[in-house]
Amino acid sequence: MSHNMTYALITGASKGIGKCIARELAQKGYNLLLVARSTDLLQTVAQELEQEFAIKALVLSIDMSRPEAAQTIFNFCEQQHLSVSILVNNAGYGLSGKFEKYASSAHEAMLQVNIMCLTQLCALFIPMLKQQQQAFIMNIASSAAYQAVPYLGAYAASKSYVLSFSRALYQEYKNTALSVTCICPGPTDTDFPNRAFLGPKGMKTAAKLNMTPEKVAEIAVQSMFAKKPNVILGFVNKVGAFLAWLLPNNIVERSAMSIYQ
Ligand SMILES: NC(=O)c1ccc[n+]([C@@H]2O[C@H](COP(=O)([O-])OP(=O)(O)OC[C@H]3O[C@@H](n4cnc5c(N)ncnc54)[C@H](OP(=O)(O)O)[C@@H]3O)[C@@H](O)[C@H]2O)c1
Repeated sequence: MSHNMTYALITGASKGIGKCIARELAQKGYNLLLVARSTDLLQTVAQELEQEFAIKALVLSIDMSRPEAAQTIFNFCEQQHLSVSILVNNAGYGLSGKFEKYASSAHEAMLQVNIMCLTQLCALFIPMLKQQQQAFIMNIASSAAYQAVPYLGAYAASKSYVLSFSRALYQEYKNTALSVTCICPGPTDTDFPNRAFLGPKGMKTAAKLNMTPEKVAEIAVQSMFAKKPNVILGFVNKVGAFLAWLLPNNIVERSAMSIYQ
């Protein structure tokens, strides 16, 4: 299936969930622009998918914690005359443990990737997306978006931002050619726990609840094409979000705290 040579731009496509989303979209005939820091990993993904699915896969290695990253990504697309019809904001990471354990600059870099770059990419690409017959934005939040999570505080709050922002965009662009979907995965078997420096209890809980990134990507892409506003992945995570809504904040927060402390 061809999509008139339109491109899906996927951030954080070097591994984990982003890499699997790239595969799902390549399978559907989309050309790809794969963005992350790791040039080698990106090139391997691109080569694999080009060979398997006869699509074009370009790579752009960039550190999205740099303030100019979103503009650089947009400029690259303009220079290459890429017509982008899908924007997947997947790049992101957490920092677990005591808030004061990390320097202010470390929190800032995380928020730059999880919040700022995502928002800037939406702002820069929406005019181009609106020109397509049909376009999609998929933003990856987390089941942590539904409550405060002590010892994972700034990360969880950044994902609450992504969820709230995405739902607002969904409403703004509903009944237009642009559909916006927010995906909230729970623990997924990727490099995330290592990058977030999860402690033994966090690792154990994650391992117990883990979904595969392949399954997460499959449901995420289905949900995006079905134009759903937001989806919590996995039954346990759906129940978790419901309980977070139902129970007093203090109980919900203290229970999460015991996992990430
Ligand atoms: N795994 C989970 O349990 C889980 C649960 C809920 C939500 N999520 C969310 O799912 C998304 C994908 O995470 P994942 O689980 O697939 O983790 P992952 O395997 O660690 O992948 C994260 C991706 O983001 C990229 N990235 C990180 N920092 C970056 C930076 N400064 N600049 C550019 N790219 C950067 C990484 O590429 P490079 O390292 O090559 O830069 C990688 O491709 C994230 O937004 C995460 O918050 C994950």
